[in-house]
Amino acid sequence: MSDTNTTHTIDTATGLEAPAELSTERVKAVFSQIARKYELFNAVSSFGAYRRWLNGMMRQAPITSNHDVLDIAGGTGDVSRWVARFHHPRHIQCTDLVPEMLEVARLHQANGDFGDVPIDFDVVDAQNIPYEDASYDVITMAYGIRNMPDRPRALSEMHRVLKPGGALVCLEFSTPPNPIWRTLYRFYLKHLIPFWGGLITGDKSGFVYLAKSIQAFPDQRGLAQLMEEAGFHDITWENYTGGIAAVHVARK
Ligand SMILES: C[S@@+](CC[C@H](N)C(=O)[O-])C[C@H]1O[C@@H](n2cnc3c(N)ncnc32)[C@H](O)[C@@H]1O
Repeated sequence: MSDTNTTHTIDTATGLEAPAELSTERVKAVFSQIARKYELFNAVSSFGAYRRWLNGMMRQAPITSNHDVLDIAGGTGDVSRWVARFHHPRHIQCTDLVPEMLEVARLHQANGDFGDVPIDFDVVDAQNIPYEDASYDVITMAYGIRNMPDRPRALSEMHRVLKPGGALVCLEFSTPPNPIWRTLYRFYLKHLIPFWGGLITGDKSGFVYLAKSIQAFPDQRGLAQLMEEAGFHDITWENYTGGIAAVHVARK
């Protein structure tokens, strides 16, 4: 694990060097405020594409019924629900930095949305995971790493808590390789995402951040390189919707 004092943290909205607190406080403010409307926003703003991406993530995730799964940045529990339904693992540990997001996940649990798969919830900063070395078979993370100001440290932490041979499965916004599609997508990000977000949640500032953070995030190859630097190997990825999103799978 790296030392916070010697690593360079960034502003996740720009990718430029900045104190970690700047991004951490912003992400807490954004997600605590939109927690109750987060799932509706997802469905509307992606025209339902997020379901196809999650489906792809599940197909790529090497999870079996005797696995212990750690969901990082699990939010309202969407990925954990898909993991429970698709793979029926032994146990899911659903974690997130923001308690308000996990409260919604607990409501899903009360509704029986995780079926009979045992699940626990914990407030966890992925850059400082409070679990033992080599304790999980698979880590899932959707739209998490982009929001973290110390990505090398977060990935090293995930590497540390995975068992040897375990896998990190990461769904994230990415960069469309086709320049025309990329230009159209950037227009949508800059102008329409804040519009939809403002309409649904009543506050568009979080969605201006979302659009900026996506544009400042490394492309498919750049994320794979960060994973490799954290100790992962056999890193592969699949693009979805022309590269708007990508699912990376990396092995310990
Ligand atoms: C866009 S949401 C994704 C939630 C969920 N994975 C999903 O697919 O619906 C991003 C989540 O990352 C969480 N997050 C941001 N920074 C984090 C950190 N350092 N550690 C853990 N979670 C973090 C936020 O609180 C938020 O719930």
